[in-house]
Amino acid sequence: MHIHSSGFNWWQHGVLYQVYPRSFQDSNNDGVGDLRGIIQRLDYIQDLGVAGIWFNPFFKSPKMDFGYDISDYRQVDPLFGTNEDLLELIQQCKKRNLKVVLDMVLNHTSDQHPWFVESRSSKDNPKRDWYIWHNSPNNWIGIFGGSAWEFCPETQEYYYHAFLKEQPDLNLRNPEVVAELKNLFRYYLEMGVDGFRLDAVNTYFEDEMRRDNPAISPSNIAPHITQKWVYNYDHQLNFTLLDELSAVVAEYDDRMIMGEVGRDGSDVDAWKTYYGSCNMRLDLVFNFDLLYGEFTPLKLANTIQLWETLPECKWPTYASSSHDQVRGVSRILTNTTANLYQKSTLLATTMLCLRGTPFVYYGEEIGLEQSFDLPKNQIRDPLAIRNNYLIEGRDGCRTPMKWDHTLPNAGFSTTAPWLPINDTHWDINVNTQLGNPHSILHWYRSLIKLRNETPALYKGEIEILESAVDTLLIKRSYEQEEVYIFLNFSEKDVEIPTILLNQHVLITTSSLQNILSPYSVIIV
Ligand code: BGC
Repeated sequence: MHIHSSGFNWWQHGVLYQVYPRSFQDSNNDGVGDLRGIIQRLDYIQDLGVAGIWFNPFFKSPKMDFGYDISDYRQVDPLFGTNEDLLELIQQCKKRNLKVVLDMVLNHTSDQHPWFVESRSSKDNPKRDWYIWHNSPNNWIGIFGGSAWEFCPETQEYYYHAFLKEQPDLNLRNPEVVAELKNLFRYYLEMGVDGFRLDAVNTYFEDEMRRDNPAISPSNIAPHITQKWVYNYDHQLNFTLLDELSAVVAEYDDRMIMGEVGRDGSDVDAWKTYYGSCNMRLDLVFNFDLLYGEFTPLKLANTIQLWETLPECKWPTYASSSHDQVRGVSRILTNTTANLYQKSTLLATTMLCLRGTPFVYYGEEIGLEQSFDLPKNQIRDPLAIRNNYLIEGRDGCRTPMKWDHTLPNAGFSTTAPWLPINDTHWDINVNTQLGNPHSILHWYRSLIKLRNETPALYKGEIEILESAVDTLLIKRSYEQEEVYIFLNFSEKDVEIPTILLNQHVLITTSSLQNILSPYSVIIV
């Protein structure tokens, strides 16, 4: 359905780069990134060799959840620029052969959206049924904590919100709402965007009988979650709606539809359901398998094997960082002697050599680390604030991009940025690394180039030849071409497997012969 005539699609072939617009580049010196800032940096993104960009939302919003609470889907928020800037951004991306993927938040709007303002105003308002109203709440809790129902004094009823109370859920059972959203898709597809990343697709529908969820003991990571979301997650109707949305995307050539399905890695079958059957539903499912938890050869081998059970017509995705989770580089090889270069190059090599679409989250390519333990007065994320700072929140992975350490605020803005610059390493900035052929940035660029030029790497079969506690040996092959990737996660030298000896080295971080130095990688 969304298939390109070559049979192999851009979203499979290429690497996708995630830009969090608030933190990429500020062009008007208000401390917040914007669309014109991104336009200024498009050459940089193009030089990375990526195929396209997924932009986090920049639509009109009161920003209670930093843009995931939209009050006008067709308007760029003035903080980020204008609709003309968006057109220019799309055009400039096209000029550079960069695909544009927009973030569509369809589960909910802002409580300031005119639809909701109308809906809450009276029980007989024509928009009343655009949201989910009940005269009594059940036990469901929101993903950000607290009851998922909010009382509305005007009409003496409760509305449902899977996330913040400022993010009321749309009633997606209402055909008028769905028709509106389909038209929204067409509006952006006509504008020339190449695809959508659909936010939180597993929360679209809830049990019509509103049965109570069973209780669970909360974990350390999520102390605010005290129940298993049985009746407000993964509803069958989610799939029906995704099929319909997918059909709209298929009205246009060569466009992509991806859904974000947040869950832990153990339940791959549920993830598979979101892919649907061949030529239906989602082209890509953005999963969370490597987004939290450990990052070890054994875990990786397990993850790869799970994703290899997808039907042949479906295509995995791999991400180690995002705007919602601790940055991969700060989760890999913790409590070891590995330095940032070793961590970043190991991470990059693993993620960019798997069979599936890799996502690179802005800053990952220079080794930007997580900012842990921000002081309370610098925390902005409602997830942390509304849970009395018992949860770390997501600010630490959203700090500004670092362009040039000789400029104020690392060249991100001339004004104090909305989140503090992470200054753990002075050389984590684009300018310094561009001048150093042994930098993390050069490694990413070289590896992406190698991947783009090597069919075995971008579309070949994958086989795990060896997975041990400290090492991983992967084979990628396409027709006659065979590529071997060997990764050393240990602090010791390890012998290079015989199968790799005397082969042409494509790229390596090790300077030794026949031996892979600590935390190094080799591709032959
Ligand atoms: C987004 C989050 C957002 C939430 C609510 C997600 O899964 O990635 O950043 O807070 O949806 O829209």
